[in-house]
Amino acid sequence: MNKEARDYLIVALDVPTLEKAEKIVDELGELVKQYKIGLQLFTKFGSNAVRILKDRGKRVFLDLKLHDIPNTVVGALNAIIDMDVDMITVHALGGFEMMESAQKVIWESKLKKPLILGVTVLTSLDEAFLQDFLGVDKSMRNQILDLAMLAKSAGLGGVVASPNEVSLIKKQCGKDFIVVTPGIRPKGVKSDDQRRIETPEKAIANGADYLIVGRAIIKAEDKRKRAQLIIEEIDNGLHIST
Ligand code: C5P
Repeated sequence: MNKEARDYLIVALDVPTLEKAEKIVDELGELVKQYKIGLQLFTKFGSNAVRILKDRGKRVFLDLKLHDIPNTVVGALNAIIDMDVDMITVHALGGFEMMESAQKVIWESKLKKPLILGVTVLTSLDEAFLQDFLGVDKSMRNQILDLAMLAKSAGLGGVVASPNEVSLIKKQCGKDFIVVTPGIRPKGVKSDDQRRIETPEKAIANGADYLIVGRAIIKAEDKRKRAQLIIEEIDNGLHIST
């Protein structure tokens, strides 16, 4: 499949109600093909949140960041498989066995999906936390790279990482290992609470496979215009990276 610029964009539906989510999806129309549903919508509305997107022919990234013992994560994945979602997240810190058991569920499934992405280190944590409370005696960068490698060796197809880590992860895990990046802000848009941000153009030029964009689109006055601008920046990035 030849990927066009808009295929790289995933809009995060971080809103409290299905009505609000549907309004955004309908406003963005054909411009956006993929959406991320997180804990906020899924906890309240469960599979109905997935259905409103599937009914509109959209791809769904279910960002539940599963983190439990292998048996429990396998149970959750078996429940999710019937929803026909396209991507899902698990915490790499859940361990090799958990990730491998999760991946086996997918390999043994009919449709061979969702793609499981590992979450390495949450962007809200810093190096001091890793050292003081987890006893991790390495830099944030090395911890992220080691967890990405662990996810890869367990059979996962990719990871979620900040735009600054994309090229390192690709170098270490191979160019086919999918990297999905949040923390995206087009030029001139405020960073909110994200610490490590990057423009769509730069993130794509770094090699990101998908960009997650939340507030920069869903809080914009003219959402279509903002999405269009981001897609243009993605297109520019694609020309830099090739
Ligand atoms: O509004 P904004 O574009 O910052 O939203 C980014 C989205 O990506 C949110 O849904 C957030 O939960 C998610 N995310 C993140 N950092 C991670 C993983 C996911 O910001 N490490």
